[in-house]
Amino acid sequence: MNVTLRIVLRSLFGADLREHMRVIEPALEAIMISSSGFNSIAFFLRIPTPTRKLHFLAVQKLNDIVYGLIASGREKLKSAEAIAPNADGAKDLLTLLLTARDDEGNSMSDQQLRDEVITLLLAGHETTALNLSWTWYLLAQHPEVEQKLHAELDAVLGGRPPAVSDLPRLQYTDRVIRETLRLYPPAWRVFRRTEEPFQVGDYLLPAGSNIVLSQWVTQRDPRWFTQPERFNPDRWCEETAAKLPRFAYFPFGGGPRVCIGAGFAMMEATLLLAAIAQHYRIRLASHQRVEPLASITLRPKKGIRVTLEQRMRTPIASDRTSDAKA
Ligand code: HEM
Repeated sequence: MNVTLRIVLRSLFGADLREHMRVIEPALEAIMISSSGFNSIAFFLRIPTPTRKLHFLAVQKLNDIVYGLIASGREKLKSAEAIAPNADGAKDLLTLLLTARDDEGNSMSDQQLRDEVITLLLAGHETTALNLSWTWYLLAQHPEVEQKLHAELDAVLGGRPPAVSDLPRLQYTDRVIRETLRLYPPAWRVFRRTEEPFQVGDYLLPAGSNIVLSQWVTQRDPRWFTQPERFNPDRWCEETAAKLPRFAYFPFGGGPRVCIGAGFAMMEATLLLAAIAQHYRIRLASHQRVEPLASITLRPKKGIRVTLEQRMRTPIASDRTSDAKA
């Protein structure tokens, strides 16, 4: 969570917000707690629990930081425009939002900017962190998959840190991430309400029906996936993947409200997995039961305790040639 939060903060604000992390991390945790299980019911019924109090305190702390960053973003923009009015340098997301105009030429208010930023912060870090946590959990139990992953990482990276330009060649790494998103989808269901009567197969849904579409259920359905409970990244080879019906797999949702960060999340998770797995094996600590908890997101109920083992890179052909030359 710490790594993915730092990444999303940096993409949003273009700065390393290390000093704010001490406030942001516990604040987000307090909001997650107040929005899960029984706490969420008490919250919506406005029962004055300690969790509710902590929730509003956390929102206040986040607001202070975010409004502060918006103010300094506006300042920076003003001085940058004064120095170079048409400069087109690398922009963080906040700058893009600050300069965005609607069809009538209006910019966003501080409140709108704050809402966008908080949404991206919340939606953009826990999901990716969970995907990686479940990936390590599955890899630790499937040495044959782990071995194939290591072989790819050694061949493509040869020990150097992965870069975006490596992504087209990190195909198996990408499939490992995709397969984990199938078995342990961080967003395990989405909700919709019908505005007008709607026919689905044999069922006529009246207007105002609440519908739950569950990734967890659909993505483990044997009609779409052979041996659905099996962790098998190879099922994502192009030929098999192309045969899947639309929406048999929808870890990022679909339609007009599809995840806005899907591409970002896939890039981030693939690069993080590559960066860590090329140097470490992750082993599950003994005497623990890892159970999924279906809260807003699909979390490991009591976390996943692991040990890290440094790994040696498998020598590849080019290593041997350079050794011989040396
Ligand atoms: C593995 C990582 C992620 C998963 C599994 C995931 C999943 C989803 C899903 C299923 C939805 C649709 C919700 C619905 O239909 O009701 C969604 C929406 C959204 N996601 Fe993600 N997400 C991930 C990463 C991210 C990242 C990295 C960001 C931003 C940086 C992000 C930002 C958003 C936003 C803003 C929405 C709302 C879009 C809208 O309603 O128009 N997500 N995400």
